[in-house]
Amino acid sequence: MTNILFAAGPDLWADYETPLRTALDATGLDYRLTCDADPESVDYVVYAPGSWLQDFTPYPRLKAVLNLWAGVEKITGNPTLTAPLARMVDEEGLTQGMVEYVTGHVLRHHLGMDAHIANHAHKWSPAVPPLAGERPVGILGLGTLGLACAEALRRLGFPVTGWSRRPKTVPGITTQHGADGLSEALERAEILVLLLPDTPATRDLLDAERLAQLPRGAVIVNPGRGPLIVDDALIAALDSGQIAHATLDVFRTEPLPAEHPFWAHPKVTVTPHIASETRVPSASRVIAENIRRGEAGEPLLHLVDRDAGY
Ligand code: NDP
Ligand code: OXD
Repeated sequence: MTNILFAAGPDLWADYETPLRTALDATGLDYRLTCDADPESVDYVVYAPGSWLQDFTPYPRLKAVLNLWAGVEKITGNPTLTAPLARMVDEEGLTQGMVEYVTGHVLRHHLGMDAHIANHAHKWSPAVPPLAGERPVGILGLGTLGLACAEALRRLGFPVTGWSRRPKTVPGITTQHGADGLSEALERAEILVLLLPDTPATRDLLDAERLAQLPRGAVIVNPGRGPLIVDDALIAALDSGQIAHATLDVFRTEPLPAEHPFWAHPKVTVTPHIASETRVPSASRVIAENIRRGEAGEPLLHLVDRDAGY
C-alpha cells in the first residue's frame, strides 16, 4: 500500500481529491490518499506553499514531496526536508496559461493598445505600430515557461533573446547566459519578460544599474517572482522615463499591500498573481505519474536542485 498525504490545504483538497483519485486509479497502484495521516506511514506528500506541514522530521518513510506549484522558493530552504522535492511542470495547464499571459501582455505593449482603449480625448492619431520583427524581446529564464513563451513569441515574428544560467541552443532564438550574457540580453530588449525563479542568485537582479542597461522606453512584464526586481529602482526608472511601463503579476509581499506605490503608479499594471495556475486535472496526472514512477523505481520527473534553489 502506498500512502499519500495531501498537505496542500483544505481548499485544494476539495478541488483535487476526485481528480487525483481518478489519476491514481489509472496507474493501477494500490494506494491510500488522505489529507490527514500518521506521519510514520506516509510515502509521498502532495504539497503547496503555505502548507500547515513545515516540519518533515516525523516522516521517516517519505520518498518524495510533490509540489503543486512551479516555484519552490518557500520550501527549498526547509532543513527538515531531506526527501527529493519535485516541482510542478504542467504543460497542458500551467505552461499554456503562461504562454497566453505573456503573449497577451507583450502584444498589448507592442501594439500600443492602451492609447486606443483609453482614448478619452477622441483623438484621431493613426500611428501604425511596427511589425513584430522590429521589436526585440528579451526573456530572462529559459526553463519550461520561459522557453515556451520564447517560442510562441518567435512564431509571432518577434526577435527573441533568452537568458539562462547554463548555456543553451534553441533554434530561432538568440541565447545568452551568465553575467556578460545578461548585459547583451538587456541591451536589446524593448520588451523584457521575467520568468526566473526566486533564488539567492536571482534576487534583486533588476536593480538600478541593470534597468539602465535596457533601451530607453523599454517595457517590463514580470510573471516570474517579485524579488527579481528592486521595487524602488523600478519606480525611479518609471518616473525618469527609462522604463515606459511595467506589468507586474508577482510581488515581494502578496497580496500587494494597499499602500504600495505600484497600485497607484500610472505606468504600472498590477495583475494579482494570475499569470498562470496549475490546472487540477492535468496537474493530478503529473502527480500520479511521479508516484507511479517512484513506486516502479524509475527516476522522478521535475526534481528540484536544492543547491541551485529551483
Ligand atoms: P524552470 O526551473 O524550468 O526555469 C528556470 C529558468 O531560470 C531556467 O532557464 C534557469 O536556467 C533560469 N535561471 C535560474 N537561475 C538563474 C540564474 N542565476 N541566472 C540565469 N538564469 C537562471 O522554471 P519554470 O520555467 O517552470 O518557472 C519559472 C518561474 O516562473 C517559477 O520559478 C515561478 O517563480 C514563476 N511562475 C509564476 C507563475 C505565475 O502565475 N506568476 C506561475 C508559475 C511559475 P537553466 O536553464 O540554465 O537552469
Ligand atoms: C507557481 C505559481 O509557482 O503559481 O506555480 O506562481
